[in-house]
Amino acid sequence: MAKLAPSILSADFSCLGDQVMEISKAGADYIHIDVMDGHFVPNISFGAPVMKSLDKFETAPYDVHLMIEHPEKYIEDFVTEKTEYIVVHQEACVHLHRVIQQIKSFGKKAGVALNPATPVSVLEYILEDIDLVLVMSVNPGFGGQKFIPSATGKIKELDRIRKSKGYHFIIEVDGGIGLQNTEEVISAGCDLIVAGSAVFKGKSPEANVKAFKEIL
Ligand code: DX5
Ligand code: ZN
Repeated sequence: MAKLAPSILSADFSCLGDQVMEISKAGADYIHIDVMDGHFVPNISFGAPVMKSLDKFETAPYDVHLMIEHPEKYIEDFVTEKTEYIVVHQEACVHLHRVIQQIKSFGKKAGVALNPATPVSVLEYILEDIDLVLVMSVNPGFGGQKFIPSATGKIKELDRIRKSKGYHFIIEVDGGIGLQNTEEVISAGCDLIVAGSAVFKGKSPEANVKAFKEIL
């Protein structure tokens, strides 16, 4: 069964604790933590202290998406008991293999994200070593953007490769996901859905999570 990781980028930061507890109780499998530095992407979100402020609440584990330059300098900051995945961008890492090992050295699962213009082939020599590939289905930087359809083909390609080689990584999709295109990405082979605005806007986050979970 595919899983859901609501992105708190679209949450109401004035009551973040309540919101993460609400979505966790409603069935969110992970809390997607979107970290932006204003360099790798044209927006600044929040850093490790905000994530760590959620440690005291009963929530789903964290799926940390680092949209930052030099992620190797900050990996340790995002390691807490509740961190399950730490995901770095291929485009931000000169020494990707080293960063993957660094994440694993803290006992965490390592993921690599690909921007829409980056082909799957750049990961050929690393796929065996990673736990997750994040397919960006928008250009990273903002919530509420439109899904880029070529992401579906990338998910299919990754699914084909892992089946033929027997690799264990899961496939995550992030950007422009709503109830209307969830089935499409899942049947392409996606295991983990990120949704920001579709969870935190509109009806209540609780109702939105439940609607997603029904499809999943
Ligand atoms: C985009 C972020 C996404 C974003 C998703 O840069 O990585 O996680 O918050 O938001 P929606 O679901 O609104 O596209
Ligand atoms: Zn994200």
